[in-house]
Amino acid sequence: MRTHVVDHPLVAHKLTVLRDKSTDSPTFRHLADELVTLLAYEATRDVRVTDYDIETPVSPTTGVALASPKPLVVPILRAGLGMLDGMMRLLPTAEVGFVGMVRDEDTLKASTYAERLPADLSGRQCYVLDPMLATGGTLAAAITFLTDRGADHITAICLLAAPEGCERLERELEGLDVPVTIVTAALDERLNEKGYIVPGLGDAGDRLYG
Ligand code: PRP
Repeated sequence: MRTHVVDHPLVAHKLTVLRDKSTDSPTFRHLADELVTLLAYEATRDVRVTDYDIETPVSPTTGVALASPKPLVVPILRAGLGMLDGMMRLLPTAEVGFVGMVRDEDTLKASTYAERLPADLSGRQCYVLDPMLATGGTLAAAITFLTDRGADHITAICLLAAPEGCERLERELEGLDVPVTIVTAALDERLNEKGYIVPGLGDAGDRLYG
């Protein structure tokens, strides 16, 4: 597993405003959307493309188009939904699948309450959207869903990640024969006793959707 922390002043600035507890929901939604597009630019660096020939007004040349099968974008409901538009701005022809997961706030265990994914993901690149990688339970389960169906390349875009979650993912995905990359705006200090990322930005789902 590879973790890529995007080092860019605009990413840092938008994240700072997201972290600020005085930022209201409309501003939070807007900035999360913009931040995802910046992260998506980095996350799609290895999206598969295929060559094809075109004619410019001046001469023939060869360009690229997204390869087939199309990438699958998977927002993890609920909070990942706030990242979907920002991602689709860069990959408008991608297919979208949905997974609904919720973390029990006492046990911190993630459970799945909804799933609408293509049955066969053989040879598909998948982009998972989830703002917070905290204990890693949610993302580990989502990645397992995708690889069990044949996905062969996974990139997760998270606004924030905690070291504990990254370490858990490393452990749980060890031996998995699929490349997994986490793209995030920041790797924070730690988790607190309630499983919240510190310093973090609070509960992303609540801040997006109240
Ligand atoms: C939050 C967050 C992640 C998950 C991270 O979702 O959006 O999906 O927790 O926690 P983990 O890494 O410890 O598993 P939550 O369960 O609060 O649901 P929501 O998106 O509906 O708010």
